[in-house]
Amino acid sequence: MTLLRGDALSAAFDHGSTTYDRLVAASPGYHAHLRRSARRLGLADGGRGLHVLDLGCGTGASTAALLAAAPHARITGIDASAGMLDRAMAKSGLAGVDFVHAPVEELADRLRPASFDAVFAGYLFRNLDDPDRTLDLVRDLLVPDGRLAVHEYTLSGSPVHRAVWNAVCSVIIQPAGRLAGDADLYRHLRDSVVRFDTAPAFAHRLRRAGFADVRVLPLPGWQAGITHTFVGRATAEQGLRP
Ligand SMILES: C[S@@+](CC[C@H](N)C(=O)[O-])C[C@H]1O[C@@H](n2cnc3c(N)ncnc32)[C@H](O)[C@@H]1O
Repeated sequence: MTLLRGDALSAAFDHGSTTYDRLVAASPGYHAHLRRSARRLGLADGGRGLHVLDLGCGTGASTAALLAAAPHARITGIDASAGMLDRAMAKSGLAGVDFVHAPVEELADRLRPASFDAVFAGYLFRNLDDPDRTLDLVRDLLVPDGRLAVHEYTLSGSPVHRAVWNAVCSVIIQPAGRLAGDADLYRHLRDSVVRFDTAPAFAHRLRRAGFADVRVLPLPGWQAGITHTFVGRATAEQGLRP
């Protein structure tokens, strides 16, 4: 089945935004795992003096995780869905965050090069048409040695983890999505994960894009072997892609 992309994906998230927070709160470990990935950015001194970008910030779950890890950082969140952003902007705990409504494909037009010390992307990359192009844009936004953490559903490559993902989707996620009136969005969730990079392939993609010290870190619970944190450091060198 065709994956949702561009305006169709944003429209699906606009519609899904009204139940998004309730659905993810019911997923064991969702917020704790985002906080763990945010801590893995290793931001010193609570992020004091640092500027951090939350790519695909949605309703602000990942933004709240960043604030927990780096309460003193200046945070900017960017998302293509106005509906998701409206939810984020309504949260009093995120009042100090700068939110930008734009697709990440327009990062270069919206944000200044080398203006971020760290970038976080929670559940974004498998939604993108051209993840390599976005990684190039991210590298340009980061200061030299700036940190990237990607928190993403990326299957390990083991048939067991793929079977667990498909089972969780069939029995829990897709029925809940259908009840919420968002069958297409949650079918997209299932298929986009199955079709996206495995964890080793995404780590390779980051290295090819010119990120150094790339590490793939596990997360616990039913998401073991299904969701990973990827951390890396922006280098001045070009990536290895032709
Ligand atoms: C699964 S949600 C994750 C939201 C949040 N990061 C979290 O962890 O809960 C994915 C978000 O990525 C956004 N998104 C998808 N494609 C995008 C794009 N090309 N540019 C900007 N945002 C995008 C969607 O609008 C959605 O809010």
